[in-house]
Amino acid sequence: MKRILPLVLFILPVVSACGSDDDGPGTQPPPATEITDAALSTLARATTGWTYYKNRADTLLRSAGSGHTEARLRTRFNVKAAAQLDAAGKVRAGASFADSSLIVKELIIAGQLNRYAVMYKLRGSANAGTGGWLWAYYAPDGSPQTGIAGRGAACVACHSAGIDQVRMNDSHP
Ligand code: HEC
Repeated sequence: MKRILPLVLFILPVVSACGSDDDGPGTQPPPATEITDAALSTLARATTGWTYYKNRADTLLRSAGSGHTEARLRTRFNVKAAAQLDAAGKVRAGASFADSSLIVKELIIAGQLNRYAVMYKLRGSANAGTGGWLWAYYAPDGSPQTGIAGRGAACVACHSAGIDQVRMNDSHP
């Protein structure tokens, strides 16, 4: 018995380590392919879990090329999207955002949040527009002003110039 115990202690971690990447297709949840405006606006209004563009939580002036008329803005990335930022908090050259990446731009007038502009990557969604993004404007209370069903028709003419549709680097170098 005394000889077997060390052997068991050695084998156990090896077996459990194998289990984590050997789950087989049947045990993984299927990737989500749809989200509603209600669920997306709730994600966008979460108060924690964000990385700010250039690691700055203060507001920036809108750029001359911005289609967003509010004078100031603040752009934040969820954990999935932040994987495409460099150490300075800028989008990496040639970045390609993974599904469930969420980018929220707070549009601010006179220090007050006016609305949210939202991009959410979900390539399998019926609402996905150019680049596999869902596009929306939400009011501060989360109600849709331009919902995801618009498939980014009002957005992509400008955004196609960005890195995987994201315009922060060229507008705020
Ligand atoms: C006239 C051009 C233009 C149009 C139209 C436009 N945008 Fe933008 N957008 C920009 C620019 C430029 C930026 C970079 C920040 C800034 O200066 O506003 C930006 C930034 C953003 C960001 C922050 C992430 C990023 O791409 O840098 C989001 C989110 C966003 N826009 C969503 C939208 C949505 C949703 C629509 C359509 C409903 C839209 N935009 C329409 C030009 C435009």
